[in-house]
Amino acid sequence: MKKFISELMVKMTLEEKVGQMHQIAGNDAVTGPLNPSSNDGEDLRKGLVGSMLNVVGADKTYKYQKIAVEESRLGIPLIFGHDVIHGCKTIFPIPLAESCSWDLDIIERSAQIAAYEASAMGLHWTFAPMVDIARDPRWGRISEGAGEDTYLAAKIAEARVKGFQGDDLGSLNTVAACAKHFAAYGASEAGRDYNQVDISENSLRNIYLPPFKAALDAGVASFMNAFNVLNGIPSTINELLVKSILKAEWKFAGIVVSDYNSIGELVQHGVAKDKMESAELAANALCDMDMAGYCFRDHLVELVREGKVAESIIDTAVEKILILKYRLGLFDDPYRFSKPNRENELLLNKGHRDSARDCARKSIVLLKNNGVLPLTRNSGIKKIALIGPLAESKYDMLGSWYCAGDENDVVSFYEGMKNRFGKDYEINYSEGCEIDSPDEEDFSEAINLAEQSEIIFVYVGEAGLMSGEASCRTDISLPGNQLSLLKELKKTGKPLVVVLSNGRPLEINWISENVDAILETWFLGVEAGNALADIISGDFNPSGKLTVTFPRNVGQIPIYYNHLNTGRPLHENPTEHYRSRYLDSSIESLFPFGFGLSYTKFEYSNFSLSKNKIAFSDELIAEVDVKNIGDIAGEEIVQLYIHDKVATISRPVKELKAFKKIYLAAGETKKVEFNLSAEDFKYYDKNKEWNIEPGTIEIFVGPNSVELLMQKVEITN
Ligand code: BGC
Repeated sequence: MKKFISELMVKMTLEEKVGQMHQIAGNDAVTGPLNPSSNDGEDLRKGLVGSMLNVVGADKTYKYQKIAVEESRLGIPLIFGHDVIHGCKTIFPIPLAESCSWDLDIIERSAQIAAYEASAMGLHWTFAPMVDIARDPRWGRISEGAGEDTYLAAKIAEARVKGFQGDDLGSLNTVAACAKHFAAYGASEAGRDYNQVDISENSLRNIYLPPFKAALDAGVASFMNAFNVLNGIPSTINELLVKSILKAEWKFAGIVVSDYNSIGELVQHGVAKDKMESAELAANALCDMDMAGYCFRDHLVELVREGKVAESIIDTAVEKILILKYRLGLFDDPYRFSKPNRENELLLNKGHRDSARDCARKSIVLLKNNGVLPLTRNSGIKKIALIGPLAESKYDMLGSWYCAGDENDVVSFYEGMKNRFGKDYEINYSEGCEIDSPDEEDFSEAINLAEQSEIIFVYVGEAGLMSGEASCRTDISLPGNQLSLLKELKKTGKPLVVVLSNGRPLEINWISENVDAILETWFLGVEAGNALADIISGDFNPSGKLTVTFPRNVGQIPIYYNHLNTGRPLHENPTEHYRSRYLDSSIESLFPFGFGLSYTKFEYSNFSLSKNKIAFSDELIAEVDVKNIGDIAGEEIVQLYIHDKVATISRPVKELKAFKKIYLAAGETKKVEFNLSAEDFKYYDKNKEWNIEPGTIEIFVGPNSVELLMQKVEITN
């Protein structure tokens, strides 16, 4: 490979080398503000384009590849990148939903199926996984990540990279992955997209970076810069991020791509006077590819000639890009991914749909249930009312970033309910209201229907595109008249089950107090309706747990479980005035991280540690008995947290350090064992090292981040 690439590079002109660093957008999807330039076709022919994004399909990618390979001087193949975020054609639940399964196997499988389909659609490279930790539900992109916790997000990052890339990038079924957005984009101020981030290195290292490191350790092929300014310097040119951490410390050898025009936006950020200076800064900050910004294309050759960018920087970038193309097998056969027959065979096949359904039902979180669920024949119920603007919606179920997904392939909630219950029950439907109507609406049809029924299922939440990029909200309650509709339905006195679809935690205080059951379904993808019916019928016992905290109100944001204790924690003396509190709200969340119910109940007991003192190198085994005390089988996600009581920097009151998902038959007890060591307790300290000091560590286990049993261990030298 090295020989092939160096021989090729000898033949390349500087213009052609810079061309490899230039990525242009097709228009199968619009994911940014720029339109393709009128020079693009000509550039392809001249060998001045290295990559395209937003071109999807075996035919379409073939067409462009043919130009690059057969009409350009050196015939270097293009690499096609796209946002394959939660499925390609078979749309899986949005990433935040998938994370609530805490099921690394199904998450890896979801990425693997996405890679099968993407590769069959001519794609080589996905701009995923998005590994940004997000603690602010106003931020629309919270829907694209794995929630608020660093440990879980790192595990999920690893699973997704493995799923996309498999063991061999040269295989026909895999695509190159991209860890994004480097870095700390999830901390955008005020939950407003593209906004600045100002955080300490302590937070950066301990909270935001570990999922990137996990992606890197799993072999991720590329990184993407973030749009945000980090501590005064845009991420795209932030030396601490790319030069110091990614390259020098972590020794990342893959490619770094800018975000969509993030190089051009250096002008708006006020750090470059024009696009020429943007190109200079970005190239010198070791950004290898300019996504849709035309800054490298228009200025890099001149900058090299003027001596402002060293040619060695260009050579290194181009070599890495060519290596990736080589590893993908594109020099052997540039069309290997663009074969329509493979596309027809693979897309949306039965196996893929089955996995999407399995993933979807594992992603659903049961937030409340007073016994109305599951809906079984024993209940005596015959007449069901389905009400709400999301009951029939197919499009919204796709969520944002739905790639090649098509609403016609979606099983709506209504259809899922009909499929499962239609034979034995009378099912009637009324929309009730729109998702986000600014005007008053007439609920009479829905109310009449509810009055004639014996149970009401109400499908409310957000539209699929109310979260995702540039879709932030300051008010995270139910949009439009949906809450008023619910309040009217409540007056009928009928059992009321609320099914929520949304891309972020919502403010749902009234709902949590007033309805009989709540199912958080996020956006579940093509199998939404069937997966939900599996849960409602009890065919599948809910097992999902929240990976993000639900606040009581927007004023509590950011609220997350792994906060610091403060010097005046409220719980120590709730009646004293000078405590960390709000005058007008509780400081507790509505639903905490890790929370989720089952149709059965689990009891935790006999929590013990193998030792009460360990040296740095010792192993520690934590054991707990978990018993299914209900009368049906179920899965439980057993969570282990720690608290470093006294350290040189303040440490979070709790930090997730391990979890296990276990299956228990009715009445069964299992001993769950966690193998730990002092390594697991390390944090990035004030001397800029990963360290753990001697002292006491509290260890907790339980079903969520609040209901926990505790033991202590002493770490000695
Ligand atoms: C987003 C990225 C995405 C890129 C390409 C940008 O606007 O921030 O996450 O990969 O567009 O579509």
